[in-house]
Amino acid sequence: MALGLDEILDSSGFVPHGVCLLWRPDILALHVASDMLIGLSYFSIPVALVYFVMRRRDVDFGWMALLFALFIIACGSTHFLMVWTLWNPDYVLEGLVKAVTAFASLGTAAALWWLMPRLLTLPSPKQLEATNRALEQEIAIRRQMEMRYSSFFNNLAESLFIVQVLPDGEFAFEAINPALARSTGLDPEGLRDRRVTDALGPEVAESIIPRYTACRDGGESIDYEETLLLPIGLRVFHTMLVPVKDAAGRVVQILGSSRDVTERKRLQAEVLQTSKLATLGTLAAGMAHEMSQPLNVIRLWTENMLSRLRDNLLEPQRAERSLTLVIEQTDRMAKLIDHVRSFGRRDGGGMQAFTPAHCVQNAVDLVRHQYALEDIEIIESATSAQMPVTGRPLELEQVILNLFSNARDAIIALRATGGEAGHIMVAVSDESDGQNVAIQVTDDGGGIDPSVLPQIFDPFFTTKEVGKGSGLGLSIGYGIIDGMGGRIDARNVDLEGGRHGVRFTITLPSQPVSSSDRELSHA
Ligand SMILES: Nc1ncnc2c1ncn2[C@@H]1O[C@H](COP(=O)(O)OP(=O)(O)OP(=O)(O)O)[C@@H](O)[C@H]1O
Ligand SMILES: [Mg+2]
Repeated sequence: MALGLDEILDSSGFVPHGVCLLWRPDILALHVASDMLIGLSYFSIPVALVYFVMRRRDVDFGWMALLFALFIIACGSTHFLMVWTLWNPDYVLEGLVKAVTAFASLGTAAALWWLMPRLLTLPSPKQLEATNRALEQEIAIRRQMEMRYSSFFNNLAESLFIVQVLPDGEFAFEAINPALARSTGLDPEGLRDRRVTDALGPEVAESIIPRYTACRDGGESIDYEETLLLPIGLRVFHTMLVPVKDAAGRVVQILGSSRDVTERKRLQAEVLQTSKLATLGTLAAGMAHEMSQPLNVIRLWTENMLSRLRDNLLEPQRAERSLTLVIEQTDRMAKLIDHVRSFGRRDGGGMQAFTPAHCVQNAVDLVRHQYALEDIEIIESATSAQMPVTGRPLELEQVILNLFSNARDAIIALRATGGEAGHIMVAVSDESDGQNVAIQVTDDGGGIDPSVLPQIFDPFFTTKEVGKGSGLGLSIGYGIIDGMGGRIDARNVDLEGGRHGVRFTITLPSQPVSSSDRELSHA
């Protein structure tokens, strides 16, 4: 039954507590002083607790401190009421306050025991101190490592960059090192945290974003060659990208290194050009012969027409036949001149799809007469090869011409030692797997000494006398074939009639290859 305020405060019938103490002033004073002091202290503790909870909002179990505060306030209140009841017998009120205190104490005690397992796991200040020390040490080690790596990053001569893969899948530059800044003319600060398109402009971004995308999606390192228009001009770079993955295997960063190969490419082109001109030089005699034939034919027919004209014997039909023949012969010469001109051109033209058999035929046509003069026969196997390959046809022709000239040199050298030789066999075929085209050039020039066979593709390796061979032919050829995604190898073969020779086999993939990916192997 609920008590009204009047009934709570109804003290009629009770005597104040002081009566029990016989109103002795000394005992009264002792009780009053003690209870007042206890009550005041109890009231100050919650203030401290609340102050603590307010200041240390990070501390867990703040609600527990507040519960404690409530319980202590209730305890304090009982002491103030004990002073009150010395003179005023409000024992019902006192009992109620004690009951509130009892509930608050019970709640606090229960909460405390409930929390105990968790409180026991709280690290002690000593443990925290030890953990802090360990963390500080780790931070120091990490700082040292960071300094070491950033010193690598900043001082390496290799151009390095870090690209972030953003959550939307786009790319932003995280950092580029000073070497890259020097070799590209880009400003590291201007690139930091900027999306690739914003930082480099749409044109450059268009050529590099597909590479970053390939590295991100493939999750594997890739390397390629790229030509970029940069603040310092048009440069060629050999770039390698390495993906960095997070714990879930997602590519979150791409580490890149770039090497400026502009100068190397220029020198390569120079060497290729020199070698081409040297090949043309060795072909000059054969070409002169090739040209003299149609010239002779033209001269014979025109002389014949002239004398008939003078004798009034030239019938229109005969004149037409003669002139058509003259045109055919001039066409043949024009074709030859055109071919030599384009072969000697510095720019080998762009990468394109073409049938290698056609190339081989051109090379054969170019040397057949000259070699015939030296009693060397070029034997072509009938071919049905039709699959196209990707590359520069004139470069492949250059490779074949060098194989022919090596074969010719070997044949002449063998003859000089009394051996019999004089055949170069050429065959082009589509491989049965439908993936590759094979070109074989075989000679009966005696073969290559097995001890030097592994070196013949090395630059400047030659067994020819000084002034006869530069030793670059096969190494340039190797680069060209590699650039087309193919391979070239050589082996000694035994031929009919107890003859020996070398067979060079060029295998070219019939799928198109990206020029920029492959050209770097021209080194
Ligand atoms: N068909 C072949 N028969 C025998 N030896 C060969 C044959 N082809 C190449 N070689 C050997 O390989 C070497 C390297 O050939 P490569 O074409 O690279 O250079 P080279 O012919 O000596 O000089 P270059 O071609 O630059 O004028 C030759 O010197 C020769 O010893
Ligand atoms: Mg050679």
